[in-house]
Amino acid sequence: MARQTVFSGIQPTGNIHIGNYLGALRNWVALQAEYDCIYCVVDLHAITVPQDPATFPADRHDAAKVLLAMGVDPTRSLLYYQSRVPQHAELSWILSTIASTGQLSRMTQFKDKADKAGSNLGLYAYPVLMAADILLFRADAVPVGEDQKQHLELTRDLAERFNARFGPEFPLPEPIIPKTGARIMSLQDPANKMSKSDPDPESRILILDDAATIQRRVKRAVTDSGGEVRYDWAAKPGISNLMEMYGLFTGASMDQIEADFGGGGYGRFKGAVAEAIIAGLAPMQQAYRALDDAEVDRLLEEGAAVARERAEPLQQAVRRRVGLAV
Ligand code: TYM
Repeated sequence: MARQTVFSGIQPTGNIHIGNYLGALRNWVALQAEYDCIYCVVDLHAITVPQDPATFPADRHDAAKVLLAMGVDPTRSLLYYQSRVPQHAELSWILSTIASTGQLSRMTQFKDKADKAGSNLGLYAYPVLMAADILLFRADAVPVGEDQKQHLELTRDLAERFNARFGPEFPLPEPIIPKTGARIMSLQDPANKMSKSDPDPESRILILDDAATIQRRVKRAVTDSGGEVRYDWAAKPGISNLMEMYGLFTGASMDQIEADFGGGGYGRFKGAVAEAIIAGLAPMQQAYRALDDAEVDRLLEEGAAVARERAEPLQQAVRRRVGLAV
């Protein structure tokens, strides 16, 4: 049987953080062992909020470097910039003609972002482009964090509607969402997810942060009243968030962490969390520094060329289905 296809994407907005890593990117790396993986730096999505044209190319390049440093392996997987593969935008347009504006208006990410940034048509159509990304390559599975679940549901709805109207073309993709780490919360406000766009840099830990920064941010992380290290999202969201991070970087279970740190106070636990994160990120930071920029550019261009070639017959099948090609 042919290997199943995995697709996922990340916006190159400069600040790849441990939420991205624990929620999605570590699965990107792991899935390469078994699946045919396609990973995309989604620059067309990123420009739905204003980007500085002078610095955007460097941000995009940097996101690609972080992915390579984490272990996305271009000899096994496809890795490219979305805008270099025009079939994404073309399929997005076709899918937009069957997307319901009612459903798009209910997307929580759209509502959040439109509140903050003011709305534009691209922001509204964002989930349709995301569906196109996934459906273009007929992906079976999509490793993402919890916040993308609603977008995956829309993707499945669009695939079903297309298949019903034009004939069976798209498989219905399944999200791959981890049991722990799917929603890493802000260090400054455990009621909100850790986010690249949070104006407070103390709210997140970036993959490339140095040891002193990580120690400071964990130490200052907002925790709950009382001093007991216990896994309880309702009563202790700040500590539960740190416990998930510690567990994912060290392999310790929540029970184990409670046994080791339960009564020892927050200070001792926070020190251990910082050390675990520093140790977990160190190999990625080393790999990042060893990458050659020209070689990274070459790899991404090569990835885009292969992706275009692979996408074209698939997109031609879509054109035939809708009557745009014979
Ligand atoms: P983006 O760039 O916001 O985030 C990349 C991935 O990181 C996950 N993530 C988190 N996981 C856990 N805790 C957090 N605090 C956290 N913050 C982010 C996201 O769920 C995501 O998996 N719309 C997507 C990009 C995209 C895409 C696609 C994804 C475009 N096309 C096709 C999958 C398939 C996004 O904005 O991700």
